[in-house]
Amino acid sequence: MAKPRVLVTRRWPAAVEARLNDLFEVQLNRDDKPMQPEEFRAAMGQYDAILPTVTDKLGTPSMEIERPQTRIFANYGVGFSHIDVERASGHGIVVTNTPDVLSECTADLAMTLMLMVARRAGEGERELRAGEWTGWRPTHLVGTKVSGKTLGIIGYGRIGQEMARRAHHGFGMKILAYNRSPVAPEVLAQNKATQIASIDELLPECDFISLHCPGGAANRHLINARRLGLMRPDAYLINTARGEVIDESALAQALWYETIGGAALDVFDGEPTINPDLKQSERLVMLPHLGSATREAREAMGFRVIDNLEDFFAGREPRDRVN
Ligand code: DGY
Repeated sequence: MAKPRVLVTRRWPAAVEARLNDLFEVQLNRDDKPMQPEEFRAAMGQYDAILPTVTDKLGTPSMEIERPQTRIFANYGVGFSHIDVERASGHGIVVTNTPDVLSECTADLAMTLMLMVARRAGEGERELRAGEWTGWRPTHLVGTKVSGKTLGIIGYGRIGQEMARRAHHGFGMKILAYNRSPVAPEVLAQNKATQIASIDELLPECDFISLHCPGGAANRHLINARRLGLMRPDAYLINTARGEVIDESALAQALWYETIGGAALDVFDGEPTINPDLKQSERLVMLPHLGSATREAREAMGFRVIDNLEDFFAGREPRDRVN
């Protein structure tokens, strides 16, 4: 039997590419650049599976094809707001993602951001590299203590819970959680978390707020000017979820007028382009979408995609089907 034809849109870890090559007839996008809608339309006429990432916008223009050959989009990543799932379903295309395997690494990075912004680590490094450090003094780059403070988590799924675990057990933080659906009491109890009924009630209570909800239209600008106004003037906002969750112009204003303590972002609306107003603030830490960027997570994500493909082509239900 002919092997399924699979298009991989970016370069993946070598071990995963090797395994893909054993199992499937693989086309790699050797340029390692985001693919364009017209390339997707052509690919959907040729490949049984497309393996996209967050940089591939699989929306209406990419899917304007009558009878696609493609039967599955096996996404490399947990977030899939770059895929128009409804449209894919309309074409009978199965969509899968890679949950679980990157939760710990993404929570590690959210902790990194929280510590960096609270302890002004980015500012310190910039100063040192610029040769501007004049030595120790009691008032130099004084930040905020993290241990024992209150952390609000918006989106208490797998990554949010991992963040809570680190913050509560490692740093003695009090955890307040907002989640669209009720969280089981035993899950909350693991990190002594309290579920709060609304984001508006959660924001004024927190020293740090970390976003772990999905992106997409439903959560676009969930954190807007009004909600930034509900944060304490010394509170910090952390985002490792998706850029569109924050209204970045409103955040730039809040940072400029110092109505919040600071922010730390790993994801940006329209990335890799960065809203220039954000760069005006020293109290903002920025990283280039590194949440899952560890050898372990990136390999595990690839092998999880392969699990989904093997299930699908063997006629089984893929474990991570999202539609
Ligand atoms: C994820 O898995 O969602 C990462 O952000 C990369 O897409």
